[in-house]
This record gives sequence, structure tokens and C-alpha cells, in this order.
Amino acid sequence: MKLTVVGAGAVGRLWGCKLAVHHKVHFWTRDSTPTLAIQLNPLEPQSPHESYSFSANQPEALKDSDCVLITVKAFQVEQAIRDIQPYLRQETSVVIMHNGMGSQQVTHQLLPDNPLLYATTSQAAFRPDSQQVSHTGLGQTWIGALNTAGKAHHYLSLVLDDALSPCQWHEDINLPLWQKLAINCAINPLTAIYQCRNGELAGKAFTHQLNDICDEVAQVMTAEGYSINSGELRQLTSKVINATGQNFSSMNQDICQHRTTEIDYITGYLIARAQAHRIAVPVNTRLWQQIKQLEQQYNDQ
Ligand code: PAF
Repeated sequence: MKLTVVGAGAVGRLWGCKLAVHHKVHFWTRDSTPTLAIQLNPLEPQSPHESYSFSANQPEALKDSDCVLITVKAFQVEQAIRDIQPYLRQETSVVIMHNGMGSQQVTHQLLPDNPLLYATTSQAAFRPDSQQVSHTGLGQTWIGALNTAGKAHHYLSLVLDDALSPCQWHEDINLPLWQKLAINCAINPLTAIYQCRNGELAGKAFTHQLNDICDEVAQVMTAEGYSINSGELRQLTSKVINATGQNFSSMNQDICQHRTTEIDYITGYLIARAQAHRIAVPVNTRLWQQIKQLEQQYNDQ
């Protein structure tokens, strides 16, 4: 297959390298660099690093792509789609993979005719510097269709699974997206506010807060039609906290590096849906406010 990966952050680089083993991969990035060299540090520390070289930002390669995988942050999706739109064929499938929810409407509006799919991953990666990407945790990936045309692209779950297992197809992709949203509502703001690794949330000091966050998310998910209880979400969250214990969450890193966080698409999305159902979510609202204050502080500098 010919694929274009849009976005060269940690997740885009990880998937790009893994897909390149069996497919032709091209990158589309914010700068206009014609090539992109990546050193992938595999999960097993004893394994040697792998070097990849990609062509990048070639309109012809984008036009020629069978599938485009968009890995930019949720708040960058609209601009990324506008940038690639002039070169996108209608048959090209578009897979959107980001933390949080809330970009679906704009994706539908901008690409009404393309096969559209969403994916969510708990594979963990980070970029120690501008050349390297380190694969730091294994996790489940889900993919599913956003529109009718997307349903015909079920095989993409096999393509992703072959590149970086486990990946499975889901008939209702919004369920795994909500479950991942719950995990991110729990882990991301707390690790950013307390400047700690994910694993530190397993300590007693965070038990009540994590329970309250999951409780509120479960109420909103139930109102959205997903019958899930708070205990199940708490279990899912603990599993990810333990599996990624050594990692700094993406929001922790964004706050450290004074970048815009995904809070509006994680906790902010939860709050918007809670308001629509007239459900009070005070614990999540407080966390949203705290992250917004942190962002404001460095924006004012
Ligand atoms: O945003 C992140 O960092 C990740 O989605 C997760 C799963 C919380 C692990 O760090």
C-alpha cells in the first residue's frame, strides 16, 4: 500500500516507521522539508535502533496515496485537512488518530466524499530529540468507520495490526474513543498538574480523585448510550497507569514544554457533553480550569 502519514510527532513517527516495513510511506509535515530521517528506538532496550528515511511533502505522493493517516493533535486536525485537501483523491481513505474527541464534525464537513475512519491507540512513544522516536509502551489500537464509505476499509485494521499489534476493528468506534477519553481525563490533567510520571497515580494520594473522575465520566457515557460503570473505567485507567508507569503523559510533556495541550478535546469534550445532558462534573471542571490556568501563565510570558 501507499500511505501518507500527516504529522511527525511521536505517534506519527512510530506508526510511519512500523508501517514502512511492509508499505511505501510518505510524510506530510508542517515544514516543507523534502525528506525525513527517523531513528526508531524499539521497545526492547537490548534491540538495536532502526534507521528510516522517508520522502516528505510531495504533492504527487499524497495524490498517489491509498490511505492517509492523520496523527496531528485534535486541535490541528482542521488545518491539516485543509492543507492536504487540494491533493486528496476521493477514493483515498482517511484515518484520524488523536487523543480526545470532538474533531468528527469538521472532518465530515471537509471530507464528505472520502472513506473516513477513526483510530485510537494506547501505544506509547516519545521523542527524545528531533531525530529520534522511542517506542515506550505496548497498548491496544482500535479502528472503525466514521461514514458508510469507511466501512469498506475494514482491512485497514489488518494493515495496522501487522505493523504494530494489537489492532482490532470496532463496529462502533465511538465506544473505544470514549473509553480512551476516560483514561485521558484521569491520567493527563493530574500528571500535568502534579508534574509526575503516569505510575505515580497508582499511589493512595490519587485514589479519591481518580474514582471521582471515573464516576463523572461514567455518568456522561451512560447518558450518551454506553452503559458502563465507574468501576470498569477505574479498572481500565489503573491498567494503563501500570502499563505506562515510567512514561510522562502527553499533557505533562505539553505543559513542561509550554505547548498548547489537548485539554479542550479531552476534559473539555466531556464537560460539553455533560452540559448537553445536564450532568454536573465538578471534579473534571476543576481540572480543566487548572490546566487552562497553566497554559495561560506561559501564554502571558
Ligand atoms: O496521552 C497520553 O500520554 C496517552 O494517551 C496515555 C495513554 C495517557 C499514556 O501516557
